[in-house]
Amino acid sequence: MSVFRTKSIEQSIADTDEPEFRLKKSLSALDLTVFGVGVVIGAGIFTLTGRAAHDVAGPAIVISFVVAAIACGLAAMCYAEFASTVPVSGSAYTFSYASLGELFAWIIGWDLILEMFLGASVVAQGWSAYLSAFLEQLGIVLPAAVSYGGVVDLPAVLLVLVLGGLMTVGIKESLRVNLVLVAVKLFIVLFVIVAGLMFVNPANYQPFVPDSVPTESTSGLTQPLLQFLSGLEPATFGVGGILAGAALVFFAYIGFDVVATTAEETKKPQRDMPIGIIASLIICTILYCAVALVVTGMVSYRDLDPAAALANAFAFHGQGWMATVISAGAVAGLTTVVLTLLIGATRIIFAMSRDALLPQRLAKVHPRFRTPWVISLIVTVIVAVVAGVTPVGVLEEMVNIGTLSAFVLVSVGVIVLRRTRPDLKRGFRVPWSPVLPMLSALICTYLMLNLSVETWLRFLIWLAIGFAIYFAYSRRHARVGTGEFLDPAKPGVVGPPKD
Ligand code: ALA
Repeated sequence: MSVFRTKSIEQSIADTDEPEFRLKKSLSALDLTVFGVGVVIGAGIFTLTGRAAHDVAGPAIVISFVVAAIACGLAAMCYAEFASTVPVSGSAYTFSYASLGELFAWIIGWDLILEMFLGASVVAQGWSAYLSAFLEQLGIVLPAAVSYGGVVDLPAVLLVLVLGGLMTVGIKESLRVNLVLVAVKLFIVLFVIVAGLMFVNPANYQPFVPDSVPTESTSGLTQPLLQFLSGLEPATFGVGGILAGAALVFFAYIGFDVVATTAEETKKPQRDMPIGIIASLIICTILYCAVALVVTGMVSYRDLDPAAALANAFAFHGQGWMATVISAGAVAGLTTVVLTLLIGATRIIFAMSRDALLPQRLAKVHPRFRTPWVISLIVTVIVAVVAGVTPVGVLEEMVNIGTLSAFVLVSVGVIVLRRTRPDLKRGFRVPWSPVLPMLSALICTYLMLNLSVETWLRFLIWLAIGFAIYFAYSRRHARVGTGEFLDPAKPGVVGPPKD
């Protein structure tokens, strides 16, 4: 009953062949890139750019984007190596079950649940912020108490319920719809860059790296953990601000790792996974840096709107119609991010239930809709509640810490799997291993240290709950331990353990 027992890669791949769970292998490298860009570009660039520039980094936010991109690039290579070696749904969770052992797999799964649950909630709130901005531009003002930032964020709740409903009855975003929405998003982002260039005033770049100023925080819980540990005075802006900004805008890149969850549905995962993951990251990095430069050039960072910065930068220059176009595009574009993250959360829990780390009954597939409806329902209700009543600022950092911790473990996992299974065919190999994977783990850890003390406390509580569930339930029920397999006699239903 070792907590470090592993599930062999051969077993993971065999599980995907069980008739009721065999997914159609239809995706190409281009599909994956479109999927990746579709998930990645979301609330991060539309809302966080403004907030991070305004609150912590100033115009140097573009450097924060570069730092975050380097961390993601290294992690992306590790994901690419894994996904091209273990083409199984479940992403980092499955990878670590094969390399680091069950306890780590559980923690990663638990972190990914945090990433996707909260990611969906945060983006739903970003969607709501842009919806309000859009409606206001049309002269419609929603009551403050039931809109973005109010007591209950009703539009965010409704969005999650509708998308959760769609997901449950099995309406998948077809590739074509996805393609259209990604095209709309790319158009809007390019529009911001090109149209925004006309309004850039170089004076707004002064000072490019604003002087570090003491933070007016009283409790100390909002300072980065690193400052807290090193005893430095809490401060914002300056070099520390750039790094804190990187830890914050890291959120904007989240999603390329979700590409790895579709490995099972890819025609040639060995070749196409690395292309899809890395290409979407490169495209997003270029766009993000350009947007950050343009927006901080259009409006002084002191005046940027922390909620809907991109649209309001144009409103600031009296270009109301441009602001309206951007808000409408953001509302359309953010919808797919929420839907994909909801589906991602469902898929991770499904993979964990398939392995019986969570009750197998949850993985029950609806006889008509052929979706894991119980999980879908639970995910939808929880995300709707979190999106509806949780204060927004708290959430992104929690998503970041969950994702970064998964990145750290995946990077270490690459090194471990190279040692334990050197024989496996790898479609993509991280160059200069183990140096680059180690660097990846170190940079991601460093970014984690730049997240606030309160985020760490919340994260530790989250981990403690995870450990409690693992030791109370998962460890004893895991299929790797019980030797149980899915019940082929009941189509679409995961058989309960026969004890
Ligand atoms: N990267 C995604 C976003 O920015 C989660 O919305």
